[in-house]
Amino acid sequence: MPSNWSTICIIVTRMFHTLPPHLRILPAITADARELEAFERKAFRDYYASHRFSQCQFNYYLKRTFTIAYVARTDIGVLGYVLGIQQSRSRQHVCRLLSIAVDPSYEHRGLGTRLLRLFLRASRRRKCRSVSLEVARVNAGAVHLFAQHGFEAVRRLPRYYSNAVDGLRMRMSLRSR
Ligand SMILES: CC(C)(COP(=O)(O)OP(=O)(O)OC[C@H]1O[C@@H](n2cnc3c(N)ncnc32)[C@H](O)[C@@H]1OP(=O)(O)O)[C@@H](O)C(=O)NCCC(=O)NCCS
Repeated sequence: MPSNWSTICIIVTRMFHTLPPHLRILPAITADARELEAFERKAFRDYYASHRFSQCQFNYYLKRTFTIAYVARTDIGVLGYVLGIQQSRSRQHVCRLLSIAVDPSYEHRGLGTRLLRLFLRASRRRKCRSVSLEVARVNAGAVHLFAQHGFEAVRRLPRYYSNAVDGLRMRMSLRSR
């Protein structure tokens, strides 16, 4: 149950479109898996619903050393996360961003950008040379966010999300940046 102070912070940050001052962004751990599953239901709707990660999938990824994941939270809960992997063997120079999401009440305040930057920085630290991802073509906000950071559309993926919703594979090189 949020305290009065938390409730005041929520009201103020929503009014002024800022992020809560006590927001923390930390590497995600398996103890986050349950909350992340619940967060998926809030963040991914419509055509994304069948692509949500389950607690079991979060558990799987968060135990693996090839995973890169950060969670943004306050004392009222998760406000966003980013999850991806470093590929193995001959493709270990490639990272895949599997998911990024921000609580709908806190969008457009730069949190998506902060999470994406952390992911790209961690990918560079692992000596990855490129990052790839899939996104729905109709998801203008996410496509815009990725393009701003240097991702380019490299392939259209017909009916990737549903019969009516195509995907887009996007890739960025980490070398020149
Ligand atoms: C995509 C998402 C992560 C962006 O998070 P965010 O915190 O709102 O992003 P930011 O505030 O950092 O905004 C980054 C840029 O994207 C743009 N943007 C974000 N949402 C947008 C929207 N719905 N339409 C157009 N542009 C949008 C912003 O305008 C901003 O660009 P600017 O700096 O030129 O203004 C968030 O909208 C989200 O969680 N969406 C649902 C889940 C999802 O679709 N994830 C991506 C697929 S894996």
